[in-house]
Amino acid sequence: MADKLIIFDTTLRDGEQSPGASMTKEEKIRIARQLERMKVDVIEAGFAASSNGDFDAINAIASLVKESTVCSLARANDKDIQRAADALKPAERFRIHTFIATSPLHMEKKLRMTPDQVYEQARLAVRFARKFTDDVEFSPEDGSRSDMDFLCRVLEAVIDEGATTINIADTVGYGVPELYGNLVKTLRERIPNADKAVFSVHCHNDLGMAVANSLAGVQLGGARQVECTINGLGERAGNTALEEIVMAVKTRKDYFGLELGIDTTQIVPASKLVSQITGFVVQPNKAVVGANAFAHASGIHQDGVLKARDTYEIMRAEDVGWSANKIVLGKLSGRNAFKQRLQELNVRLESEAELNTAFARFKELADRKAEIYDEDIMAIVGEESAGAAEREHFKFVSLSQRSETGERPHARIVMSSEGQEVTTESDGNGPVDATLNAIEAHAKSGSEMLLYSVNAITTGTQAQGEVTVRLSKNGRIVNGVGTDLDIVAASAKAYIAALNKLYAGGEKLNPQI
Ligand code: KIV
Ligand code: ZN
Repeated sequence: MADKLIIFDTTLRDGEQSPGASMTKEEKIRIARQLERMKVDVIEAGFAASSNGDFDAINAIASLVKESTVCSLARANDKDIQRAADALKPAERFRIHTFIATSPLHMEKKLRMTPDQVYEQARLAVRFARKFTDDVEFSPEDGSRSDMDFLCRVLEAVIDEGATTINIADTVGYGVPELYGNLVKTLRERIPNADKAVFSVHCHNDLGMAVANSLAGVQLGGARQVECTINGLGERAGNTALEEIVMAVKTRKDYFGLELGIDTTQIVPASKLVSQITGFVVQPNKAVVGANAFAHASGIHQDGVLKARDTYEIMRAEDVGWSANKIVLGKLSGRNAFKQRLQELNVRLESEAELNTAFARFKELADRKAEIYDEDIMAIVGEESAGAAEREHFKFVSLSQRSETGERPHARIVMSSEGQEVTTESDGNGPVDATLNAIEAHAKSGSEMLLYSVNAITTGTQAQGEVTVRLSKNGRIVNGVGTDLDIVAASAKAYIAALNKLYAGGEKLNPQI
């Protein structure tokens, strides 16, 4: 059998570090379940010591996920490592990932430590982590800007202490493919005990080369683990995109000669889920998961594809989970048909009550929209589980708004607030502005809006609009998503969902390490 390439997903840790992408525990669980369904080898579920919220999310994921190894990040100190081990305790298989910076710049300016101190702390951290598990990963942070001799010395020592994965972090996206690939190769050649560990690549996309660098680390350097995130989510320009690595290695097996354990048909559902939860929209021309990735617009291409698909297609859309926009249910579909479709979509609602509410919302939508697509169902379910997770302080009841050319738009909203119906009115620059002002007139959240975006869930003007609102207050950033055939109502629902998250508290302060 050919070598296996381990896929280590860090959407829930490094991806979440992206300002604005912070997720609630329930959202993290939904994504972890999807990653397990996709059969990723390792799920980095978070950074246990960063907050109680992240600890709880890792702990819940460790209890639920059975097929993938669950991992937590930990700085190279006993307290962080103990916290990671405690959070991971219920897991069937777990990994502790500990790190410390090794570049002269980071050691001197950030850590204010000498190289000898860093060397000692790295060794002791791995030794301590091995008390809890024999699956320990060590990362030299800013590894690609570290001194080669020092890096060799530290990595040899941590492998001696029992680190089984060595992850070469290109923390600031400084690498270029040939140099980064050679860095991994040289380390593997120079470190005497390198054969006792799997080498891993971890690249950031600041210069747009994260995927290329990771693949060079694999092909030139001999790394056998890639750390990556769904849609390349991550702070600044993001991390290596999982879908691009997986499809490059699969499509060019002739070149890479590597095996993967991934169920690629789960890639697009994972991409949509992460995008919906974080509000980070996928650009249409994004490789593999962009809406246009398989659309052939030019006549020559269309003609070629019709005659022989592989003239212009190197991957099949269905192999990565694209399904033609299929009408799946309609007005006459009953609860059983709805439940069965949820099962086919691998959606699990936690209780009969949630199923009933989702079904009621489906019926309501089917009354207004003749053709219901999978995407519509996923949107209903997404909102349903988000709503169930947060105790809803505010609830959308109804909206009327008036806008006319030359007139200032006006909105009147009815919400229930702690069980009491309240009605407020406001005007604004546009109908959405008027509606959100009306909500704010009652909620008085004083939050700052960081993002407002609208997307059509399917195609055509009959599609539901999906609105994402990102709010920030006292350093906390939350996302709210709302869907409706009426995009002004969707905006109100998204704003209310975000307010509920602010009220629910518990979400962590945009964690940065
Ligand atoms: O980019 C980085 O250096 C990291 C490490 C913690 C692996 O994310
Ligand atoms: Zn990183």
